[in-house]
Amino acid sequence: MRQEAWWQDAVFYQVYVRSFADSDGDGVGDLEGIHSRLGYLELLGVDALWLTPFYRSPMADHGYDIADPRDVDPMFGTLGDFDVLLTEAHKRGIKVTVDVVPNHTSNQHAWFKSAMAAAPGSPERDRYIFRDGVGPTGEDPPNNWVSAFGGPAWTRVPDGQWYLHLFAPQQPDLNWANPEVAADLERTLRFWLERGVDGFRIDVAHGMAKPPGLPDMDPRADALGPSHYYDPRWDNDGVHEIHQMIRKVLDEFPDAMAVGEIWVTDEERLSRYLRPDELHLAFNFRLVLTHFDADAMRTAIERSLTVPAKVGAPATWTLGNHDVWRQVSRYGGGETGVRRARAMALVELALPGTVYLYNGEELGLANVELAPADMADPRAKTSGAEFGRDVSRVPLPWEGDLPPFGFSRNPRTWLPMPAEWAGLTVEKQIEDADSTLSLYRQAIELRKTHPAFGGDELEWYGAPAGCFAFRRRGGGLVCALNTSASPIALPPGEVLLSSSPLVDGKLPADSAAWLI
Ligand code: NOJ
Repeated sequence: MRQEAWWQDAVFYQVYVRSFADSDGDGVGDLEGIHSRLGYLELLGVDALWLTPFYRSPMADHGYDIADPRDVDPMFGTLGDFDVLLTEAHKRGIKVTVDVVPNHTSNQHAWFKSAMAAAPGSPERDRYIFRDGVGPTGEDPPNNWVSAFGGPAWTRVPDGQWYLHLFAPQQPDLNWANPEVAADLERTLRFWLERGVDGFRIDVAHGMAKPPGLPDMDPRADALGPSHYYDPRWDNDGVHEIHQMIRKVLDEFPDAMAVGEIWVTDEERLSRYLRPDELHLAFNFRLVLTHFDADAMRTAIERSLTVPAKVGAPATWTLGNHDVWRQVSRYGGGETGVRRARAMALVELALPGTVYLYNGEELGLANVELAPADMADPRAKTSGAEFGRDVSRVPLPWEGDLPPFGFSRNPRTWLPMPAEWAGLTVEKQIEDADSTLSLYRQAIELRKTHPAFGGDELEWYGAPAGCFAFRRRGGGLVCALNTSASPIALPPGEVLLSSSPLVDGKLPADSAAWLI
């Protein structure tokens, strides 16, 4: 049954809090910075924000290592700042959702500190996954699991036991078989819901449950997922009970929602997370994993749409986030990369369901090449610079001609900002009708107000090689994409918007257009 809810076809905007706007001059973004830029978000037209973790943290993984999930880290402000941000966002009609990280805590969380101080087999250790090692003196880890950041997923403590961390050693995995763990998450959810948040993004929502006996993984399956090889680290059936628990809490709060970060591409497995008593939304990462090619994109869209068809939850599209390369760079970089990213923005915003944008994509930002000494991501340290995620996390350019472009009053921003961004600031783009920012604003506005965007089903037209065109059954919007090298004739209709100017009425290479 179709669920009519505010998130049904909402445009969410991911604020990577460290990199959005810095109000206090420490070179790191903060809550007051977001508050000061709410006018921009209103102008952009987004319906809701997803704020990355701003909780107390030693920042080993930039906030995804949480020492206290029910307090704000002084680097980002105070609980009072959060309340102001929430109230002011709501006044502008913008919903606010926040991250929760149920798979692990920081090693500086009070629970982990007491686990370290306690003996093997103690209740304190049972909140995490401590095990004896193998080999005559327990010198080898309990199994062969590797961390998503590279290297073994186990770290040995002085008394000889090992603890599991699917991410950095500073992020010990919680033991979800221990009821205290669920009770604590419930407290966290209620804490933020009672303050008025509209929902959550659930980190590693396919993690948490671990299979009995912690069997070895196939060593070929060494990434975060998805994988063709046996990988008992993720997507264990036990995880669904956890999502049911989360949903019960959310259901007590009218209109609260949750989206899961689920790196599972098998549609049948993914749709299980969206059963009526589990998550409302699950990111579909197929578009992120697909190169700029009309056939491949069409397949990705069609496969993604089988998930909502199975369970009736909205499709949840995204082209980028703080963990992956910026789409401009994925599609080849330079001017071509920007053209292609603009085209894909129109494709994404034409689709039925929910869309998640990542801050900076509306400015057409590309990856930033950083010197190894400037890299801050723990994954760059353990897996090598080419796996570093800092490239898509550089602070946003707001105004002026020189770094830090109004992001901060401190020229030493937490990641250096490139001087070449002078032409890409919000200030430069906002009045320029041809800018990427203007394209996003127009596209979001049309999507919100034009009746052509109705209907959940797509009808595909025949199209020349390297191109596709679909029509939304219901509303009638047509979206055409040209990934070939030459201009193509458009299907009949009035052009509503195009990602680059038409040439003699044709859609040029690396472009998309909307028609009615
Ligand atoms: C997914 C988050 O998006 C990523 O940034 C983080 O490193 C891992 N989960 C671990 O929490």
